[in-house]
Amino acid sequence: MAMRAIFYVAIVLVLTGTAPSESNMEGAALYALRRAVKDPGNVLQSWDPTLVNPCTWFHVTCDADNRVTRLDLGNAKLSGHLVPDLGKLEKLQYLELYMNNLAGRIPEELDGLKSLVSLDLFSNNLTGPIPPSLSKLSKLKFLRLNNNRLTGRIPRELTKLENLKILNVSNNNLCGTIPASGSLSKFSEGSFADNPRLEGPELIGFVRYDTDRE
Ligand SMILES: *[C@@H]1O[C@H](CO)[C@@H](O)[C@H](O)[C@H]1NC(C)=O
Ligand SMILES: *[C@@H]1O[C@H](CO)[C@@H](O)[C@H](O)[C@H]1NC(C)=O
Repeated sequence: MAMRAIFYVAIVLVLTGTAPSESNMEGAALYALRRAVKDPGNVLQSWDPTLVNPCTWFHVTCDADNRVTRLDLGNAKLSGHLVPDLGKLEKLQYLELYMNNLAGRIPEELDGLKSLVSLDLFSNNLTGPIPPSLSKLSKLKFLRLNNNRLTGRIPRELTKLENLKILNVSNNNLCGTIPASGSLSKFSEGSFADNPRLEGPELIGFVRYDTDRE
């Protein structure tokens, strides 16, 4: 009896096409962000989850297939925190959330942003580590995390980001040495400034004896 009921429900779903489309899922991912932030300037007012896709929402840009390619919410007075759901936006190229007051961690799930070119989270109140998983964002050109309260080491995995053109992690509370190989070797001190506990570039080709332990 129950089996038969499930069968009929399945048929109805197929016939009416109510299985969620990809753009609906992207709308849901963005709506999860809306729920996680305070928005005193009402910049997210147009974010209506009942629409077929988020492509008419303000500050959201889509491609011809109605997949989200840009989120432009810099300087929008948002507080609250980031959500792992954002990692579902596979076609997102620009994640612009700089100059807000977002707190909490950078979700490691952002490694799902396979198309991402620019990750701009600078000038917020973010804590916790830089997720090593960000090294999976192989198209990334701009990584600006400066002016937050990030801690921990700079993940060596980031040396794999071959397309990185701009890196800024200055004015955080990072520690350890700066990995000096791969894509990170081309950035100068200005990318890492104002991290009082950061020790500078690692020494390559020397055996390093740590005399004082942390
Ligand atoms: C940053 O977050 C901390 C709590 O983690 C809070 O005390 C502080 O006021 C926040 N900073 C700003 C500028 O809002
Ligand atoms: C990094 O950001 C700081 C502000 O936090 C800025 O002063 C500096 O010029 C930037 N450096 C680079 C290399 O982008």
